[in-house]
Amino acid sequence: MSKLFAPVQLGRNTLQNRLAMAPMTRSRAQFDGTPGELAAEYYSQRASAGLIITEGTQPSDDGQGYMATPGIYTYAHVAGWKKVADAVHAKGGHIFIQLMHAGRMSHPDNTPHHRQALAPSAIAPGTGMFTAKGMQDIPVPRALTTDEVRQAVAGFRFAARRAIEAGADGVEIHGANAYLIQQFLAPSANTRTDEYSGSIENRARFAIEVATAIAEEIGADRTAIRLSPGTTMWGIDEGAEGPNLYRFLVAELDKLGLAYLHIAHQGNEALLTDIRKLWSGTLILNRPGSPRDKIGADVASGLADLEAYGQMVLANPDFVERLKHNAPMNDANRNAFFGGTAQGYTDYPTLRETQAA
Ligand SMILES: Cc1cc2nc3c(=O)[nH]c(=O)nc-3n(C[C@H](O)[C@H](O)[C@H](O)COP(=O)(O)O)c2cc1C
Repeated sequence: MSKLFAPVQLGRNTLQNRLAMAPMTRSRAQFDGTPGELAAEYYSQRASAGLIITEGTQPSDDGQGYMATPGIYTYAHVAGWKKVADAVHAKGGHIFIQLMHAGRMSHPDNTPHHRQALAPSAIAPGTGMFTAKGMQDIPVPRALTTDEVRQAVAGFRFAARRAIEAGADGVEIHGANAYLIQQFLAPSANTRTDEYSGSIENRARFAIEVATAIAEEIGADRTAIRLSPGTTMWGIDEGAEGPNLYRFLVAELDKLGLAYLHIAHQGNEALLTDIRKLWSGTLILNRPGSPRDKIGADVASGLADLEAYGQMVLANPDFVERLKHNAPMNDANRNAFFGGTAQGYTDYPTLRETQAA
């Protein structure tokens, strides 16, 4: 496990260790999408993780899916994220803002303009979403025109620049978990007839264009992407060609020299091994629900350069310290994952606080 605690170079930065906080939506932003008052405290409490990847943050009004998620496209958003980045840096941490365009995983009640969601094709994901009126079915989205696809690429580029203005060390493009980028990858969500659909090359085009545009704008060494090959949730089906789609996509992305590739692993070990070979840069691996006794195994084996953990970091601001001392972990309070106040957000005790009480 000791390798986990050794510093590592990531793009322009030297991280304190090889542990990352996985991106987690907490739905506590202000009404205009500015990070909430407690966000700087929440993230800086966790700054001993080598890298903090923020909650999914929309690059535009259209990109919002859930209630009270933050954005990074207005002056107020930049000022809000600056407080977060400064607080993390003051504690010696590093922070990438995750750029998340929800695509069809959105409800008009949750967006500032209340318009029909935009997606590759007019196909609903077949699930519900929490809104101010409670759970509602997600309506059928409107298919983006080809021009609008290019505008969406430009929106990502614009937001990436704003993230750097806010003092973030980089951005992670959310290409995972059934949101807009993965909707383009999956034939079940993408039945377009233009150059963004059909062949593997065409379905990967949007992801590659977004990554290329952002790398051009802020530097490849500040640009990263998260993928979840084989996701089956919310109507996503990448079909039998799925693994080959990812082999192609990862090989193309590798040419850009990005800061890192982040895999939210869905279980295909053979594909993961191939991805490791195809990717010449830094690889961050998140294995959902990974037990504590497996922490460090992927870095030790060389399969990953960093390991990302979600719920354990959410519930343990001193996650790294607890690992070092083999100390017990707090359990995450699922009822406080989304929305609310400090409870279940900034009030998880450190080991020292627990011992002192
Ligand atoms: C409350 C919560 C919110 C999440 N929000 C995001 C998100 O905004 N972006 C993302 O890529 N993944 C998100 N995830 C997935 C996590 O990044 C991670 O992949 C998942 O929790 C599995 O890892 P873990 O078992 O270590 O928690 C979220 C997970 C949780 C628990």
